[in-house]
Amino acid sequence: MRTIRIATKGTRRESAVVCRRNVLSAVLAPMRERLLGGGGIVFTDSNVFAIYREELLRALGGVPVFVMEAGEAHKNEETLLSLLRAMAEAGLRRNSVLIAFGGGVVGDIGGLAASLYMRGIACIQVPTTLLSQVDSSVGGKTAIDFCGVKNLIGAFKQPETVYADPVFLQTLSRRELRCGLGEIVKHGVLSAPLFEELAAAPDLFDLRFLASVVPENIAVKADVVRRDPEERGIRRCLNLGHTTGHAVELSSGLSHGECVLWGLLFESRLAARMHLAEEKFCEALGVLCRTALEGGRAPDPDVRHALLDKKNTEAGTVTLTLPAAVGKYEIVRLPFARYAEEIAAIREELC
Ligand SMILES: NC(=O)c1ccc[n+]([C@@H]2O[C@H](COP(=O)([O-])OP(=O)(O)OC[C@H]3O[C@@H](n4cnc5c(N)ncnc54)[C@H](O)[C@@H]3O)[C@@H](O)[C@H]2O)c1
Ligand SMILES: [Zn+2]
Repeated sequence: MRTIRIATKGTRRESAVVCRRNVLSAVLAPMRERLLGGGGIVFTDSNVFAIYREELLRALGGVPVFVMEAGEAHKNEETLLSLLRAMAEAGLRRNSVLIAFGGGVVGDIGGLAASLYMRGIACIQVPTTLLSQVDSSVGGKTAIDFCGVKNLIGAFKQPETVYADPVFLQTLSRRELRCGLGEIVKHGVLSAPLFEELAAAPDLFDLRFLASVVPENIAVKADVVRRDPEERGIRRCLNLGHTTGHAVELSSGLSHGECVLWGLLFESRLAARMHLAEEKFCEALGVLCRTALEGGRAPDPDVRHALLDKKNTEAGTVTLTLPAAVGKYEIVRLPFARYAEEIAAIREELC
């Protein structure tokens, strides 16, 4: 068991991420009495409920459960309002708690509902995907998609506690594991010990290996959040691989994690071409991305999307967080035409 504390600057509240096994039986079951009679609600999605229904009911029988249809398409105001209605109908009070049991979609909507209900009730996150364990459950960002824009409506809401249990990784598909690996490789750029472990791993998809690196990943993200809880500056390092990754995402059918891996691959080459990074480091990072991607032709990113990124501060320029070395990144602004040219040249190289 490992606990990572996130004391956010300027607040007295502390949030904790606990990495441990048997969360349902050893942590949630003892909370059952407190959750009955309006003390709490469990929020989950249809896939997770189908797989873990029995364990959940064994631990928390009698506690109301609200199940949303699984998938990003349902990360919207309808699901949010239905959840808030279920919370009101369950008689939740100001001291009640919402347990978000699922991946990043459940965590994002559940956190937002908890921040809105009675102006804020406690939220416990039990992330069940690799991505939500290493990324989305840490940092307190919550949101729904709105008017066709991803995460347009949201709030900062630190969960009381996050419980990351490796047991849940066992039922994830390889593709879902890859989604988490995108962010794990990104965190590797920010942490020398993690980068070494990733580079030395005989199999990046091995569940025991993945479970062993979850705490270090949480620590990397928690450290960034601790220093920049409201995304004013340092959190930009979490944007590594994401500018080009988003351009890939919006012009391909690939998942976010796969796009981040391609984004990191393109941007590490870009950093080398701009003499911001050493060739050896870029090669090692490239090998990690390729291994996690398990093949596939280099996509053709629609670079125009990079111009629309909200991180750009000047019109006609693209702002990028480029990997420079292990533990080191550079924020650069490139005129759009130069960025487009470089990305096209790198794609030629990669094909
Ligand atoms: N708040 C943040 O800081 C932050 C950061 C990154 C991503 N996100 C958000 O997270 C979301 C993506 O998260 P995600 O990849 O976890 O998506 P997700 O919640 O949609 O989960 C992916 C799929 O896996 C299923 N699933 C979940 N747990 C499972 C398990 N243990 N076994 C089998 N199937 C399981 C889900 O039902 C779903 O079909 C996006 O909406 C993204 O915007 C938020
Ligand atoms: Zn991401």
